[in-house]
Amino acid sequence: MFSVRAVTPLRSAVKAPGASRVFAARSISFWSGVPQGPPVCITEAFKADKFDKKINLGVGAYRDDQGKPYVLPSVREAEQRILGRDMDKEYAGITGVPAFTKAAALLAYGADSAPLKENRIAITQSISGTGALRIGGAFIERFYPHAKTIYIPNPSWANHNAVFKDSGLKVEKYRYYNKDIIGLDFDGLIVDIKNAPRHSIFLLHACAHNPTGVDPTPEQWNAISDAIKSGEHYAFFDMAYQGFASGNTGKDAYAVRHFVKEGHNIALCQSFAKNMGLYGERVGAFSIVCESAEEKSRVDSQIKILVRPLYSNPPINGARIAAEILNDTKLNQQWLDEVKGMADRIIAMRSSLKSNLEKLGSQRDWSHITSQIGMFCFTGLQAEQVKKLAQEHSVYGTLDGRISVAGITSGNVQYLAEAIHKVTK
Ligand SMILES: Cc1ncc(COP(=O)(O)O)c(C=O)c1O
Repeated sequence: MFSVRAVTPLRSAVKAPGASRVFAARSISFWSGVPQGPPVCITEAFKADKFDKKINLGVGAYRDDQGKPYVLPSVREAEQRILGRDMDKEYAGITGVPAFTKAAALLAYGADSAPLKENRIAITQSISGTGALRIGGAFIERFYPHAKTIYIPNPSWANHNAVFKDSGLKVEKYRYYNKDIIGLDFDGLIVDIKNAPRHSIFLLHACAHNPTGVDPTPEQWNAISDAIKSGEHYAFFDMAYQGFASGNTGKDAYAVRHFVKEGHNIALCQSFAKNMGLYGERVGAFSIVCESAEEKSRVDSQIKILVRPLYSNPPINGARIAAEILNDTKLNQQWLDEVKGMADRIIAMRSSLKSNLEKLGSQRDWSHITSQIGMFCFTGLQAEQVKKLAQEHSVYGTLDGRISVAGITSGNVQYLAEAIHKVTK
């Protein structure tokens, strides 16, 4: 049964010259059939490029105007306070740090939210936004009483498909982006919602749609809510950028709050990676609006049963930082100002890129650069143009034409505009 493929001298077991060599049997590998996965190519190519003006527009994290990672001063302050308390490192409960989850729900749903007041929102801390999506996927897979098919926008954040497939759901797409207008395919989206089988699940990006930066207007959100209601579909929100899109956490939560007000018992994934810059701390939350406090209690108990074998309980440090910021009035205001600062820098870079392109005499319509929102911009560049940008100008984006506006600074925006102009003339 246990075949031995080769008898190989192990490097560490080779004795000094002259001494008899020690041989060890190496068994056949169990993993010889594992195929090589595709590389994450932007970062690799960017790293290898030696040009001093190279620009990485593939990065999914905020950068300051010097192109450097940014730790929010409110986060530093919260860290100092927590350090000063000499707190223990005991395990959190399965659903995390209560001071954090309570504040996260308040931030998302708003103080006047009926289900919050009626204590019918089941919420758990999660390993950032990705972990929230994974818990949500697992919960749907186990308990959703209808076909377990989730419709995601076309295009969507690349990980949505993988997370939901790995959760055991069937993934379908609905129309979202119209490349001809570099904007929302609103009619297509509504038709696809209406044509989906009753009780389908729709994944909605609450704000700052990734990768397109194209969001529905409030009026369009209202119509989407109506269409989802008329199909008796289920709304599953991913809100990875609350505050980061417009600079205002309430404005960015419009869709979530409108749906809840309209009676949708939504699922919601929250991430504090972008809006608090807590990327590696992995701070997030998953919640489900329930019909009653009694239903909430049942849902809560099953979320715990799902989470326990996944990772037992979540990490405490990032959640303590976020809780400190959200629960302290002064620190909370400071954070809101800092979020606005990040959003404003992104918005300013969008304007600057557009006006630089116009100054260079580009005949193209670049209005989508400023009408889109959030960290990402769908430039409308074709794959060949993106390749040319990298090969001839050391500017790295993704082949779908997406660029991360966070990678633009006042120091490189002119060079970037020149490069884009050259490949689009
Ligand atoms: C749309 C969307 N959802 C979720 C996430 C999850 O991010 P994280 O797991 O870092 O919170 C991201 C991150 O880029 C995202 O863009």
